[in-house]
Amino acid sequence: MKLPIIAYGDPVLKRKATAIEPDEYPNIKQLIEDMFETMYGARGVGLAAPQVGLSMRLFVVDATPFADEEPELKDFKKTFINACILEESGDEWAFNEGCLSIPDIREDIYRQPHIRISYYDEDWKHHEETFRGMAARIVQHEYDHIEGKLFTDKLSPLRKRLIEKKLNDISRGMVNVDYKMKFPAAKKGR
Ligand code: NI
Repeated sequence: MKLPIIAYGDPVLKRKATAIEPDEYPNIKQLIEDMFETMYGARGVGLAAPQVGLSMRLFVVDATPFADEEPELKDFKKTFINACILEESGDEWAFNEGCLSIPDIREDIYRQPHIRISYYDEDWKHHEETFRGMAARIVQHEYDHIEGKLFTDKLSPLRKRLIEKKLNDISRGMVNVDYKMKFPAAKKGR
């Protein structure tokens, strides 16, 4: 089942998400399936639980369609539960990022190219892995979501002021988007 994606401006996107206990959500596999379906429906490569209104340390990624251009993305379909970035290293590099909660805005964001991360998968199996390049970037973007951060938080004050009106319009639902969203400041009936 596709879930509505929470738009910029909702406090759930600014909240640090809480860790999940293994027995806390017996239906977590269904939720994970719904998150993948929601992400595919919006043509995203990652989706975090806060973006569907749940302040939980859970996100999914699938960047396998880009494996032709980026070999490190081969088999890069994963679920991350209770992820914790242990280390980030290397010289920051820029990439033009987007976010399903902030449609129609893309900005150059600087991130370090290597990460080491610990997490549990959908079967509660523990992993400690390293990712680099685009794989690392996708994980860093989604990880920011469970830390209550958005890529707009990384922009300079000037850049942020330049897109402020667009961001406010998104909160109010004044944006053309072809997937289902929930807008925090939408007038009733929108
Ligand atoms: Ni995002």
